[in-house]
Amino acid sequence: MAKPTTSFTCAQCGAVHKKWAGRCDACGAWNSIAEEAPLSAGPASKSLGALRGRTLPLGDLSTEEAPPPRTSSGLEELDRVLGGGLVPASAILVGGDPGIGKSTLLLQAAAAFARSGLKCVYVSGEEASAQVRMRAQRLDLADAPVKLATETNLRDILTTLEAEKPDLAIIDSIQTMWADTVESAPGSVSQVRAAAHELTTFAKRRGTAVMLVGHVTKEGQIAGPRVVEHMVDTVLYFEGERGHQFRILRAVKNRFGPADEIGVFEMTGMGLSQVTNPSALFLSERDKPVAGAAVFAGIEGTRPVLTEVQALVAPSPLGTPRRTVVGLDAGRLSTTLAVLESRCGIPFAGLDVFLNVAGGMKVTEPAADLAVAAALLSAREDVALPADTVLFGEISLSGALRPVSQTENRLKEAQKLGFSQAIAPARSKLGGVPAGLKVRSMPDLTAFVGEMFGAG
Ligand code: TYD
Ligand code: MG
Repeated sequence: MAKPTTSFTCAQCGAVHKKWAGRCDACGAWNSIAEEAPLSAGPASKSLGALRGRTLPLGDLSTEEAPPPRTSSGLEELDRVLGGGLVPASAILVGGDPGIGKSTLLLQAAAAFARSGLKCVYVSGEEASAQVRMRAQRLDLADAPVKLATETNLRDILTTLEAEKPDLAIIDSIQTMWADTVESAPGSVSQVRAAAHELTTFAKRRGTAVMLVGHVTKEGQIAGPRVVEHMVDTVLYFEGERGHQFRILRAVKNRFGPADEIGVFEMTGMGLSQVTNPSALFLSERDKPVAGAAVFAGIEGTRPVLTEVQALVAPSPLGTPRRTVVGLDAGRLSTTLAVLESRCGIPFAGLDVFLNVAGGMKVTEPAADLAVAAALLSAREDVALPADTVLFGEISLSGALRPVSQTENRLKEAQKLGFSQAIAPARSKLGGVPAGLKVRSMPDLTAFVGEMFGAG
């Protein structure tokens, strides 16, 4: 009979290895691999198909069921990221670095949902009741009808929830939870997985929405949220740069809505406040045109967001010049530099290049290519771009500009914020161009360089 073998799982990325190693092949993390007991010690030699199970009732795809009823929290930024409000019986993971504001966000969310009429339970495994109450007081939420418990024993938590039958249970955090059926320390891969499994099954069985907090860990001492991402319906990441007030709640997976929505918040002395017009915020520090800055008309989910791409180009004292990128993909910078060099004959050899998105925003859209190229050229030539201009467009390896999605929304947002010119790829589906906005279509990067910076 084959012996059930233990496996070795990386706490960072969840990759499974046959044997222990100091470094995970999959994600490169050190000291993150932990031994895991086999899931069941049942007769492994018998295949499941040979055993008699229950016959499942099979349905068809057509359904009369209405879309799930959603509850709005009243916090518009949170509702949007959830796909239009909270879905009953859904399991939601909120991941993020320690100290970024997850507990603050979820306490505010609990209070908001409780005030909209949901029965909410907040379970903290990290802080004492007094601490949570103090925070509630500071956030002016002390009178919200949220029930609070501080506990880490999962059995007791589930028994309590079973009796209480809340509409929403918040568990802060999944890494502190401890199931007495699993023989490993809280925070280990097996514990985190077991706790997440128990809580998500509870959600489906009892119709309670469950929000789990998961710390992202650098050291891999405790299991990261990756381990539970596949078990939950919705995965939200709460991000922000240290030293910046802005926090972005980003949906990376959502079974009940679009997966690329963002909600923008600002951390203040009174907790998180919503930023309903992020473009104005990310552009607020612009007063006069400077060389190296270009405004990108981007889209985050269903919402247009204007951001400023900033570049600095300086002679390098190093043999291999520096390429430093914050808020954008480093690979795309290399590609853009290569295209500028080979297709437009503008070399960046011997020059240090620094690229940054203002305000701590992260931009992942390829549509940002043109703004990146414009910022780089403007910095290199020391010529400021016109202050009233936004740009967008994807650059292909041939140097051609490719149209991008939602052109109309980008133009509308630019016009709303007082811009009077947009530079867009030729063949863009313009739709109705807003009044007062001039659109200049560019077929390729060479044409753009010629027009904006003379012959290049
Ligand atoms: P917290 O929600 O405890 O973070 P997490 O749960 O993700 O670890 O937030 C901690 C930080 O937020 C802390 O550095 C203090 C700051 N903060 C404020 O600036 N204002 C506030 O009103 C609150 C409650 C926290
Ligand atoms: Mg916390």
